[in-house]
Amino acid sequence: LASTEVDLDGVEVGQAITVIWRKKPVFIRHRTPEEIAEAEAVPMDDLVDPETDEARVKNPNFLVMVGICTHLGCIPLGQNPSDPKGDFGGWFCPCHGSHYDTSGRIRKGPAPRNLTVPEYEYLSDTLVKIG
Ligand code: FES
Repeated sequence: LASTEVDLDGVEVGQAITVIWRKKPVFIRHRTPEEIAEAEAVPMDDLVDPETDEARVKNPNFLVMVGICTHLGCIPLGQNPSDPKGDFGGWFCPCHGSHYDTSGRIRKGPAPRNLTVPEYEYLSDTLVKIG
C-alpha cells in the first residue's frame, strides 16, 4: 500500500483529479497550455521558495503534488471547476489565505513552502505510480 497507480488517460486538459496516497490527498491537474506557459515564465526572484516549473514536473502537462497546505495543513481549493484558484491561477488555501500558482508554488500568504511533489514515476505514457 506504499504506492498508488493512477491512470491519467481520461483526465482532460483543464481537468483535475484527487487521489489518496498514504492517506494524503494528491492533486493531479492536466494543465492547459496557458497554465504551463505561466508556470514556466515566472522569474525565480518572484518566488518565496524558488523552484523552476521544470524541476517540479516529469511531464509538463500533468502537475502531481500533495494537496496539503504547507502552512498548517489545510487542503487548498482549486481542484473543482467552481473553486477559487487564488490570485495566481493555481490553488487557494482558505484557512489563512495562501495563494499557489499553476506550478503549486507559494506566491502569497503565510505558507512557507511550495506544495510538495511526491516521489512518482511514469509506468507508461498515462500510467503514473505515486510513491
Ligand atoms: Fe493554508 Fe494556513 S493552512 S494558509
